[in-house]
Amino acid sequence: MNTVLLENNENDIVTATELIRQGKVVGVPTETVYGLCADARNEEAVRAVFSAKGRPADNPLIVHLADFSQAELYTSYIPELAYRLAEKFCPGALTMILPKNDIIPLITSGGLDTVGIRVPSHPVMHRIIELSGCPIAAPSANISGLPSPTCAEHVMRDMNGRISAVINGGNSKYGVESTVISFDSENTVRILRPGAVTKEMLSEICNDVIIDPAILNELAEGTKAASPGMKYKHYSPEANVVMVESSLQDFVNFVNRNNGNKVYSLIFDGDEKFFPYNYLTYGSDSHEQAHLIFQRLRELDDIGAEKVYVRAPSTDGVGLAVYNRLIRAAGFEVIKL
Ligand code: TXA
Ligand code: MG
Repeated sequence: MNTVLLENNENDIVTATELIRQGKVVGVPTETVYGLCADARNEEAVRAVFSAKGRPADNPLIVHLADFSQAELYTSYIPELAYRLAEKFCPGALTMILPKNDIIPLITSGGLDTVGIRVPSHPVMHRIIELSGCPIAAPSANISGLPSPTCAEHVMRDMNGRISAVINGGNSKYGVESTVISFDSENTVRILRPGAVTKEMLSEICNDVIIDPAILNELAEGTKAASPGMKYKHYSPEANVVMVESSLQDFVNFVNRNNGNKVYSLIFDGDEKFFPYNYLTYGSDSHEQAHLIFQRLRELDDIGAEKVYVRAPSTDGVGLAVYNRLIRAAGFEVIKL
């Protein structure tokens, strides 16, 4: 299959929309990361998404809508709290897990009786949903297990020959995927995947916000995952990644003792002044780190890193999302000094 690179203009967006309406798969920019878009109701199209990614069939796809009011078309129940959250965070980087109805096929929901609903704010993604009239299933546009794509070039690299087209919409604004939440009760939400909509922001609308333990800790064997995505190794470059929680001085000493030819470190902007070994930097605050993290994980592969020591980020605000992606890239291997 020839994968066409489309531009961010109305003509090309119409072309992409037509492809999606025909049951094809298109890579599209969103404010979080790029997604692989297909009509969520079309089983064959959704199957093509799973196959392009090499994604396990039990890992459900998020359904993207132009407006939260459309959630009523695809779900069987929406708690009042969901409407209040939507008022504040839709459009935006929030995915709410709700009971699905029969219009969303089981293949889209990975066999679950729930569906993740998100209303993206990116104008290209929004226009595609609007023009197509389809609920759009869209997982991140990477090969399953690799870092999520934050620019069209990343999508092309993973998906060239596997999907019909990619729209080039520049770099994703946030750089980490949406915050995924479920409702434990009418008044309690549970964060299943942290993202740009932070615990602190959710707490402004809802007093009870639980961080699912699987966000920071490996699932114990035999435990059922609240979200299937928690089960799988994720965001991993080829290199063996290890997270190191320490002061800069201890980090420098640690790398000095464990240095080698293909050893690289991922450090904060500013650390490099004190760092005489191979490194890449990934920003100096949580927003910059979110913006850069997936790109840096890909770059580490490009330079042939075999071992990567990462200075652990702060877990405040969107930092929790960065920490979560890194600890999963590290397969939960953390060294505390
Ligand atoms: O920002 C995003 O969410 C991006 C853009 C493209 O919208 N999409 C994305 O999709 O990250 P994906 O498929 O890569 O990640 C979706 C995550 C997975 O971990 C999946 O297990 C979880 O959300 N999820 C989806 N539907 C679910 C459901 N019904 N119940 C529990 N978890 C669900
Ligand atoms: Mg993904």
